[in-house]
Amino acid sequence: MIIDWPGLRAAATAAAERAYAPYSGLRVGAAGLAADGHVVTGCNVENASYGLTLCAECGLVSALHASGAGALHASGAGPLRAVAVVAGDGQPLLPCGRCRQLLLEAGGGDLLVDTAEGPVELKVLLPAAFTGTDLADRRETPTKEAPVKEAPMKEAP
Ligand code: THU
Repeated sequence: MIIDWPGLRAAATAAAERAYAPYSGLRVGAAGLAADGHVVTGCNVENASYGLTLCAECGLVSALHASGAGALHASGAGPLRAVAVVAGDGQPLLPCGRCRQLLLEAGGGDLLVDTAEGPVELKVLLPAAFTGTDLADRRETPTKEAPVKEAPMKEAP
């Protein structure tokens, strides 16, 4: 699939301009390309109760699902294919550790992440990650919650 990296970075920059970051002063924007061609964005949203801050990537992943582009493929792989995250200056910003984990479930290890040196696969940025497979393999108590692969999104009515 062709990835318009300048376009993704521009969408991320536009989102960063709408960020709400009065406490840190660091505006962040994220834009992602889904397998079906959808482009979704997010920006960071801070709060006077600092720990409640939402990273830009959180908004992006929520937008991915809200857009309808978030359904899992038959393979079980998440649909996100490419992500650009930038600061308010429009230059790439590497996702924090928590967001690397969040992006992993949305796009898998092959997800391409924009960096100043070019696109890098997420599995390089987050090696030996904990995944839904580890959860399913290691849980001790049976649960009614199905592993991720067996719980595809419901079709919209
Ligand atoms: N931030 C993001 O939005 N994404 C990241 O991957 C790193 C950090 C935001 C959170 C907070 O609003 C600000 O940057 C400073 O940490």
